[in-house]
Amino acid sequence: MEINILIVDDEEDIGFALQHGLSKDGYHVTTILSGEEGVEYIKNNLIDLVLLDIRLPEKDGFQVLQEIKEIDPDILVVMMTAFPNIEPAIRAMKLGAYDYLTKPFQNLSEVRLIVNKALETQRLRREVIRFKRQLSLENIVSEIFGNSKKIVKTKEMIRIVSGVPRTSVLIQGESGTGKELVANAVHYGSKRAQNPLVKINCSAIPDNLLESELFGHERGAFTDAKIMKKGLFELAHTGSIFLDEISSLKLSLQPKLLRVLETQSFRRIGGINDINVDVRIIAATNQNLENCVKDGTFRTDLFYRLKVMVINLPLLRERDDDIILLAKMFIDQNNREFNKDIWGLTEEAERTLLHYPWPGNVRELKNVIERAVILCNEELIDVDHLPRELYLASRKAPVKIGQQLTSDMSLSDMEKRHILFVLEAHENNKSQTARVLGISRSTLREKLRQYGIDDETD
Ligand SMILES: Nc1ncnc2c1ncn2[C@@H]1O[C@H](COP(=O)(O)OP(=O)(O)OP(=O)(O)O)[C@@H](O)[C@H]1O
Ligand SMILES: [Mg+2]
Repeated sequence: MEINILIVDDEEDIGFALQHGLSKDGYHVTTILSGEEGVEYIKNNLIDLVLLDIRLPEKDGFQVLQEIKEIDPDILVVMMTAFPNIEPAIRAMKLGAYDYLTKPFQNLSEVRLIVNKALETQRLRREVIRFKRQLSLENIVSEIFGNSKKIVKTKEMIRIVSGVPRTSVLIQGESGTGKELVANAVHYGSKRAQNPLVKINCSAIPDNLLESELFGHERGAFTDAKIMKKGLFELAHTGSIFLDEISSLKLSLQPKLLRVLETQSFRRIGGINDINVDVRIIAATNQNLENCVKDGTFRTDLFYRLKVMVINLPLLRERDDDIILLAKMFIDQNNREFNKDIWGLTEEAERTLLHYPWPGNVRELKNVIERAVILCNEELIDVDHLPRELYLASRKAPVKIGQQLTSDMSLSDMEKRHILFVLEAHENNKSQTARVLGISRSTLREKLRQYGIDDETD
């Protein structure tokens, strides 16, 4: 990658000599004669290092230095001074200069030395930052368990989204699918990781308080506003804000949120000044926002603004191949927590987990396994360690009757098996079983007697 150096010096021959020497080292060098133009140039070009004269006409070097640091604190600035005294150099270092050189230069080797050292330090620093970020991103993503196609796609999306600095993110998924986990990953996997992640559940706070919670209020803005209060958007400055259950945000507040998204600014309640913030918005919903738009409870413009980057979380039952994997991960976690040594699940327990529809998604599975680990004192978790409704629900799951057919089976054998199967699925309730089989209760009782099945009354 090409390294860009900018020289800002009003003495043309010094600029020329430096440009000539450093170009020979393979750097791309530009020389500019005034501070004003130098700042403009930096705004419009990617610069790695600036050699900046302290004494410049109009805007002096200190002022230019400060402006450069405001544009990008990562740009290295080496000051050049013709004064032999040290004060200006110290002042420059305090303002963020990397080093300084005293003019006139005897030869270019001193300049080269400082420039190379500075660039090397910068390269290492950038590498460390990149490495750390990658490491923490992978750490965080690895806490999202699962290898199924759908969740792998979701994790890929998290990696992409984390790398984008400010664009808002919308996380969609039903209850317990991991929306908050993903929101954490997006924030802690991003460059904002060291800065605050502020969370608020839009449905948990009464409508009339939500606005001041989010945007703050000035003193005296309303009767109870005895003192000025900062809103969460201000507290989240430089970090992210997690707006959970965004679909509950009332219509009257939606334009204010849209404005923050578009201009990164807002006003406190009762305030007259715009407050600028640098906040990434991470919104989550378990409702279908498109339907909310159709129903008129969610603004179309806000919906489209939020929809730029979407992370969709699959239902647990759509990721069958993950159920057992997740169960085992949770067993490991709970083994550590409860000091147990459970190896896994019996076949029957696995089958039960696989047949259950998991309306509460990963959260429900996590809770089921925690309970099972507590109850289990054997090596394997069995069906009796699982909640009864799980077992029953999985029994009700349709089983292919063909699997039970064999070529030496008589019709009455088949009938017997089918009656038993339906009976079991309905917890021995004979009225229901008879209805499903399409026979009367007395016919059912007759058949049970005929097949030697115990006839306890229900
Ligand atoms: N893929 C996963 N790997 C590991 N743990 C997970 C995964 N998905 C969810 N969890 C865990 O399941 C629980 C529920 O997840 P989370 O709170 O993120 O869900 P949610 O979508 O925000 O639910 P709700 O809509 O009810 O708020 C958490 O304990 C979370 O750590
Ligand atoms: Mg949640």
